[in-house]
Amino acid sequence: MADNTDSENLNRLRIEELRSQLSKHNILYYQENSPEALDSEYDAMMRELRDLETQYPQYSDPASPTQLVGAPPSKKFTSVTHKLPMLSLANAFNKDEFLSWNERISKLLTTNIDFVCELKYDGLAISAIYENGNLIQGATRGDGNKGEDVTDNLKTIKHLPKTLTGAYPSVLEVRGEVVFPISDFREFNTARSVDGLPEYTNPRNAAAGALRQLDPDETAKRPLDIFIYGLGYTNSTLPYTTQLESLEYLAQLGFNINEHNMLANSVDQVIKYYSSCLEIQGGLNYACDGVVVKVNRLDFQRHLGTVGREPKWAIAFKFPSEQKETTLLDIKFNVGRTGSINPYAIFDPVIIGGANIRQATLHNEDYIRSKDLRIGDTVIVERAGEVIPQVVQSITKKRDGTETQLIMPTTCPVCNHMIFSHEDEAMSYCVNSRCTAQLSKMVEHFVSKGAMDIQGLGPKQIQVLMAENLIEDASDLYDLKNHQDRAMTIERIGETSLDNLLTAINESLQQPLARVLTALGIKHVGPEVAELLSNRFQTIDKIIQASETEIISISGIGPRISSSISSYFSNPSNIKLINKLRSAGLTLETDNVDQIDKQVLVNKTFVVTGRMENFSRTEIQNKIKALGGKVTSNVSKKTDFVVVGSDPGSKLDQANLLEINILDETQFGDLLQSLLLNYDQLQ
Ligand code: IVH
Repeated sequence: MADNTDSENLNRLRIEELRSQLSKHNILYYQENSPEALDSEYDAMMRELRDLETQYPQYSDPASPTQLVGAPPSKKFTSVTHKLPMLSLANAFNKDEFLSWNERISKLLTTNIDFVCELKYDGLAISAIYENGNLIQGATRGDGNKGEDVTDNLKTIKHLPKTLTGAYPSVLEVRGEVVFPISDFREFNTARSVDGLPEYTNPRNAAAGALRQLDPDETAKRPLDIFIYGLGYTNSTLPYTTQLESLEYLAQLGFNINEHNMLANSVDQVIKYYSSCLEIQGGLNYACDGVVVKVNRLDFQRHLGTVGREPKWAIAFKFPSEQKETTLLDIKFNVGRTGSINPYAIFDPVIIGGANIRQATLHNEDYIRSKDLRIGDTVIVERAGEVIPQVVQSITKKRDGTETQLIMPTTCPVCNHMIFSHEDEAMSYCVNSRCTAQLSKMVEHFVSKGAMDIQGLGPKQIQVLMAENLIEDASDLYDLKNHQDRAMTIERIGETSLDNLLTAINESLQQPLARVLTALGIKHVGPEVAELLSNRFQTIDKIIQASETEIISISGIGPRISSSISSYFSNPSNIKLINKLRSAGLTLETDNVDQIDKQVLVNKTFVVTGRMENFSRTEIQNKIKALGGKVTSNVSKKTDFVVVGSDPGSKLDQANLLEINILDETQFGDLLQSLLLNYDQLQ
C-alpha cells in the first residue's frame, strides 16, 4: 500500500515537472521563437505527460499543456480574439498509431471514409480575415483563443491575396501556415551570421521571427510564403460539402493552395501518400514534418467533433525525425566577430535527409555540459526542422571509458590571447582586438550587403589580403588602390575583378552614416539601431561624445545597447579605426546635419501608416523623432498628423473619423520643408 502511494506521489511530482517544463518550452517556442528543446524531446515530454494524465485522471487540470494550444499572445502586439478557436492536431508517430486513429473514428461513422491528405507544413499558423473581399486582419494562433494582430506584417506576403477574386462572402476567415523558403533561409542565416546576429535554428523559427517583427518593413525584407489549408469563420453558408471542395473554392478566390493535396479513398492510399511525401520531402523548398489526414466530408467532421484542443476528424501523421548514430570525433572552436568562442562538433560523416553531415554547432559550454557530451562518445544526430544538424544526445551505455570530457580552452584558438567569460553569459570571449580571426570576420561584416555593400570580397579573399599584409582592418581597403601591383599577384584577385573591387570600394564612400555605423560591427548595433543613432546625432563625432544617458533616451535603445555603444567608443583602438575611415573619406555625417538642432516638430504627435513609396516607414518615423516630434502607433484625439501610404487600413478610417490632418508622403515632405525654411528665416 505504502509502495502504491509512494509511486503515485512520484508520478504526481513528475506530472508537475513535465507541465512546468512544457510551459517553459511553449513560451520559448511560440513567443520567443528560440526553442531550447529539440522537437523530438518536446514530443516525448508531451507524450509522457499525456500518458500520466490518462493513468491518473485525479490530477487532470484544464490548464495543463496537454489541454492548451501554443502560448498566450505576446504583449508586444495588440491581442485579437479568434471568432472560432484555432485548434491543434493530435499526432500519430507511426503507422500503428495512424491505424488506431482510423479505427476509433470508423466506429463513430457508419460508411466508408474518404480522406484528404495534405502536407504538414512546419511554419507558423495564422488566421486572415477578409471583409468585402479585402484583407482586414491577420493574426497568429497565440493560445488558440487569443492571438497577436500581425495584419501589416501579413500583408507583406506576396502569395497572400490582399483582395479576393470571384464570388466571396462578405466576411471570410481563412487559416494557413506561413513558411520561410529553405533556400532563402540559408542565405538569410548566412547574412545574419556575417552581421554578428544569432542564426535561426530552423526555417520555422525564422518564419515566426519574421512575422512577429514590430516593423512590417522588416517582415517585408524576408521572403515569406504561405499555404492556406482551411476555413475559419464566415457569415454565409458556402456552396460545398467536403474539405477538398473547400480548398478548390479557396483556390478560386486567389489563395495559395498546396499542389500536393490529395484525396484518398482508403487507409492504404493514405499510407502510400505518406510514403511518397517522405520521399519528396527532402526536395521541397519549405519544411514539412509529416502529413495531415482529414476526414473529407464536412458533415462527418461535425459529427466527430473536437476533444479538448484537438479535432477528432484530423490527425498529424508525423515523419520520423531522421536520426543517425555517429562518433563525436572532436570538439573544435571558432572565433566570431565579437570574439565569441563558438564550440562545434566534428563527427564521423553521416548522411541524413540526403546531406552529408560532418559538423554541428554546440552553441556554448553550458549546452555541452547539459548534454554531457564527451569526445569519443557515440551520439545521435538529427537535422532539426529537417535542415540544421544538431546533436540530440550521447549514448552513455556505449561508453568504454576512453571518452574524454571537454576542456574549454583558456586562450583563443587563433591568437592565443586570454579568454574571458561574463558571469551572466554562457559564452566566452577572446578580448584581443587584434585577433586575426575577429579582424577578418569584422572585415567580412564591414563589406556585407546590409553594411557597406562592397561586392567581390568573400571570406577567402579577405583572408588572403590579410595574410599578404595588404589589409589589417577594414580601413585599409580604401588604401588598396595604392597597392594594385601587389594585389594583382594574389591568385584569387585577378585584374578584372580587382578593377571591379576597387570601384566597389570607392563607391562605398557614398554609403550614408547609418550604413557606416552598422559596418563598424558594434555589439547589438544592427541597421535599425544605427538608423536611430544617425537620426538622433547626425554626426559620428556627436555619437562618440554622447553620454550613455543621452543614448538611452532614444526610444528603441535600452541599457544593454547603450552600454555596448559607450564601451565601443571608449576604446581607443576603435577611435583610431574611425579616424582612419575619416581620412579615407567615408561619410560620417548625414546630409541634414544642419537640421539636428532644428526641433521644428516639438509637441507634435504623428502616426505613420501604410506602405510608402520613397522612404520606409521607419525612415519617416526617425525623421519625425530627429526633429523633436513624437510617433505613436494608434490614432487618437491627441494625434496631430497621420502620414499615410498605400493600404493604410483602419488607421486612416480612424483619422477621418476624428478629423485629424492626413498627409501623404509628398505632403509630409512639403510640410517639413516649409517648417525648416521658416525656422531658418527666423534665425
Ligand atoms: S489543419 C483543426 N492542416 O499544424 C485543424 N494544420 O498541430 C488544425 N499545420 O496549428 C489545422 N500543416 O499550423 C492543418 N495541412 C495542414 C497543416 C496544419 C501544418 C499546422 C497548423 C496547426 C498545427 C497543428
